[in-house]
Amino acid sequence: MAKNKRRIGLLTGGGDCPGLNAVIRAVAKTAKNDYDMEVVGFYDGYEGLILNRYTSLNDSDVSGILTRGGTILGTSNRADPFKYPVLQGDEYVYLDRTSQCLLNFESLGLSALIAIGGDGTMAASAGLQEKGLPVVGVPKTIDNDLAGTDVTFGFDSALQTATEAIDKIHTTAQSHHRVMIVEVMGRYAGWLALGSGLAGGGDIILIPEFPYEIDAICDQVKLRNSLGKTFSIIVVGEGAKPKGGEMVVRRRIENSPDAIRLGGISYQVAAQIEGLINIETRVTILGHLLRGGSPTAYDRILATRLGVEAVHLAAGGETGRMVAVKGNDLSSVPLSEVAGKTRRITAGHPWVKAAESIGLCLGLPTGVPLEKSLST
Ligand code: F6P
Repeated sequence: MAKNKRRIGLLTGGGDCPGLNAVIRAVAKTAKNDYDMEVVGFYDGYEGLILNRYTSLNDSDVSGILTRGGTILGTSNRADPFKYPVLQGDEYVYLDRTSQCLLNFESLGLSALIAIGGDGTMAASAGLQEKGLPVVGVPKTIDNDLAGTDVTFGFDSALQTATEAIDKIHTTAQSHHRVMIVEVMGRYAGWLALGSGLAGGGDIILIPEFPYEIDAICDQVKLRNSLGKTFSIIVVGEGAKPKGGEMVVRRRIENSPDAIRLGGISYQVAAQIEGLINIETRVTILGHLLRGGSPTAYDRILATRLGVEAVHLAAGGETGRMVAVKGNDLSSVPLSEVAGKTRRITAGHPWVKAAESIGLCLGLPTGVPLEKSLST
């Protein structure tokens, strides 16, 4: 690395998703072209900053990566600098490694850090900013649940993958006159389930925000059968739960800041449908397929714009902020306003209204206003 050149750091944190490499590419190119700055890429999210594992990112390093899924830097959803897990004997102890982050940041002569990630990365970034390490956040996640932005990159690509899967599931549903359940990721938010359900022509959509009633689901399946539609597609968000019931926890990752991994609620729904109305039901869980593959054109453009804007903020000293999408425009919001918050679907959201108007069942009795069902 050259002496006396301005230099910024870059990392990708949390779960991977399509579009990460497009942001990395945009950051490296904008830093060089617009500001003659160097970019230092840390490996595996905050782990790289804590352990001082990095590489310089120049034009040739980012050439040809626009279309590639994943992240050339690697990522981690465990390396929280405030609670860094270290194995001592059989048990993890959690250490504050923020001073080490500051030390490594300063010794590399960095003027700002661009952190691409979801809510966990933004929370850590907000904390580091308070400690004097200047950070600009870039919102990423297939879940689309980050506060402060209308949309995150990665979501559109996952939505496309889920929609294609639902399209394909239709053939077996129709041929075998079955109920087919497709479960998608999304954690505690139903954006992927509602979006792909709408786009893929799902008949029933279950999302975490609206706890479902199994009778309403069975009634809808029976109604469709009575109309001669001898199959039903149910799209389920992994965080869906019955009214008065719990989400299904697939496993716990104890050394991860959010230890809970969801998944499998669809098997409960399937068993209940078969038990109550005796219609053959099958489950497909899409899981990490949704995080893979090449980003859509929309995500490539969004990721590029976000990366460019992040460099402008970093170069202008406007740190402590996350680049955000507001309508068609980019703006930025304080990291402190994003940390610890998520954005979930409300009964008044236009996607919900559209779903209701075209007669989709959201797991609650039809003919009863959604707000009323949700309040009882
Ligand atoms: O946040 C992205 C996400 O894919 C969620 O939709 C899902 O619940 C979780 O990450 C899965 O995490 P992991 O890759 O650790 O299993």
